[in-house]
Amino acid sequence: MDTKIKQIDENSLILAKDIILCGGVVGIPTETVYGIGANAFDTAAVESIFKIKGRPNDNPLIVHVHKDYDILTLVKDIPDYAKLLAKAFLPGPLTMVYKSRGKVSEAVSCGLDTLAIRIPSHEGAQNFLKFVNLPIAAPSANVSKHVSPTSAEHVFNDLNGKIELILDGGKCVGGIESTVLDCTGKIPVILRSGLITRDMIAQVAGDCREYVYKEGARALSPGMKYKHYSPNCRTLMFFHEEIEKAVKEYNDELAKGVKAYILCDDNTAKLINVENVLNLGSTDNEIASNLYSKLREGEKIAELIIAVAPEKQDGVMVGVMNRLSKACAQGK
Ligand code: TXA
Ligand code: MG
Repeated sequence: MDTKIKQIDENSLILAKDIILCGGVVGIPTETVYGIGANAFDTAAVESIFKIKGRPNDNPLIVHVHKDYDILTLVKDIPDYAKLLAKAFLPGPLTMVYKSRGKVSEAVSCGLDTLAIRIPSHEGAQNFLKFVNLPIAAPSANVSKHVSPTSAEHVFNDLNGKIELILDGGKCVGGIESTVLDCTGKIPVILRSGLITRDMIAQVAGDCREYVYKEGARALSPGMKYKHYSPNCRTLMFFHEEIEKAVKEYNDELAKGVKAYILCDDNTAKLINVENVLNLGSTDNEIASNLYSKLREGEKIAELIIAVAPEKQDGVMVGVMNRLSKACAQGK
């Protein structure tokens, strides 16, 4: 199968809809990362997503809908705080988990009685979702465990030959995946941190907790237990306080003939002043936006990426640190 990349226009939307209605899978842009989407009512189509990505079959998918879709046909028991959050942040990078009505294929939620719903703000994503007018199950469009894609080219690099069409909506400005929020309890609980931060949620909902996954415990959001977002080269990670150690490691590796690069924010880059730098930029949003493209750039040129965590650890940086530590994690 040849994978085509097409700008989003009437013709490519017609093609995309045809593919979806025939049980196929389409690469789609969102404001966070690119996804690969299939009709959430079609079990075979949803199962093919897991095959294409090599995704573990206990890691549920998010369903994407356009902003006027009646989500009450898919989920129930929406608490008042969730209505306030939806008003404040949707369309946008916030995925909300509710009790499912069991209308979409069981393959979407991998047997859980909940369903994660996302209404992306990306204009191209909205146009596509409106045009197909179906709930679209879509994980990030990377091969499982690899770095998430933030451009159509990234999707092509991972999935060329495995999907028919990628809708090109440019570079994703958000850069890290949506915040996943459990809205089935009295208080919202963040299952995966992202651009909509705990403070932002607490301000609207009154309170917000953050779920911390402990090894061996039942995962509320099964995706959290896997190594993830990882470049295809060796990685090491250092906390900001360990800058000197990181630079020593870099110099030792260079001396051994290893092509090492330091991945860090602009402030750190100025402090360490080494030659091989993958610079993530300065502001929180810039760092989030560049994280995956720099990891993908790094794996092409480096044998070893040495990541130095940003000094700031709150707000959007919680999500960045979560991705960075998983990208650099050893193990499965
Ligand atoms: O920004 C995003 O959310 C991107 C774009 C494409 O929309 N999508 C994305 O999907 O990141 P994926 O499949 O890579 O991550 C989905 C996350 C996983 O951690 C999964 O465990 C969690 O959402 N999830 C999905 N359904 C869930 C559910 N019913 N309950 C708890 N967690 C759920
Ligand atoms: Mg993913």
